[in-house]
Amino acid sequence: MDLKSYLTKTTDLIENHLNRLIQEQNAPFNRLFQAARYSLLGAGKRIRPIIALAACETFQGNVYNALQPACSLEMVHTYSLIHDDLPCMDNDDFRRGKPSLHKAFAEGEAVLAGDYLLTYAFEVLTQAPDLTSEQKLKLIATLSKKSGGEGMIAGQIMDIQKEKTLFSLENLRLMHRYKTGALIEASLEFGGIIAHASDHHMKILQGFGREIGLAFQIIDDILDVSSNNHKHGKAGSDIINQKSTYVTHLGLEKSQQMAAGLLDSSLSYLKQLPYDTSLLSQLATLLVYR
Ligand code: IPE
Ligand code: IPE
Ligand code: MG
Ligand code: MG
Ligand code: MG
Repeated sequence: MDLKSYLTKTTDLIENHLNRLIQEQNAPFNRLFQAARYSLLGAGKRIRPIIALAACETFQGNVYNALQPACSLEMVHTYSLIHDDLPCMDNDDFRRGKPSLHKAFAEGEAVLAGDYLLTYAFEVLTQAPDLTSEQKLKLIATLSKKSGGEGMIAGQIMDIQKEKTLFSLENLRLMHRYKTGALIEASLEFGGIIAHASDHHMKILQGFGREIGLAFQIIDDILDVSSNNHKHGKAGSDIINQKSTYVTHLGLEKSQQMAAGLLDSSLSYLKQLPYDTSLLSQLATLLVYR
């Protein structure tokens, strides 16, 4: 199957499953589900769940067992975007082609919808069909670590620091690895856990994820200043917020070269695996050249 058909097929699977997992309720707290659905459904590249499904397939695991865990990754990611856009964070009014959640709903509702998506993601993991308790425990441990203080939240708190002295190139790399790379690594690990990959193969997968996750955020920084298709409805959100990014540190051209170099080194990890890794390598290439 070519990559385009694969993406269409998996995006549909994920969309339908997310739609089933969070439904409106005839309840006095239905705003919560309306708000969560507003941000979660209908848009977004679905990179993290797709990566989880692709990693599972690479290790010849049962992709249907990976669907619900993959959706939990998208819930955590969507929560991170909702909170990332808040006035106290990046203050972005547009997301995924429409007003950010705190613009379409009240700010407090956006905070709570984010909280709900984060907590519900773990509930959904505990209920994932056809996985052993040990697998579920590993998934929960992986997601909590990589979305928390050894991952996304650690990266996000570095991102909102105002003291620019913090930002040596080394710390910038750490911030990018944490705020964005960690959840991409977790997505790969999810596929490996569900397909019962060996410890050795998991290490290789993590190496691949580390490189491609960092490249992905570097490209996000580049697109923030160079794309005509502004995802936040305005040019240069990072510039307005005086963010430290690869572009502010190295300039556009060197940042692009760095992302290309990271893609190459990510692909060299894949070559160490005794499986057909063409799906993962095509996805990695798409993440950098988008
Ligand atoms: C945006 O992620 C935030 C980052 C971590 C760079 P995506 O570019 O994957 O956003 P969606 O999910 O497609 O909207
Ligand atoms: C976001 O980084 C990382 C998250 C964990 C949400 P950015 O702030 O650069 O993401 P965008 O550009 O708003 O999507
Ligand atoms: Mg941000
Ligand atoms: Mg942002
Ligand atoms: Mg950005």
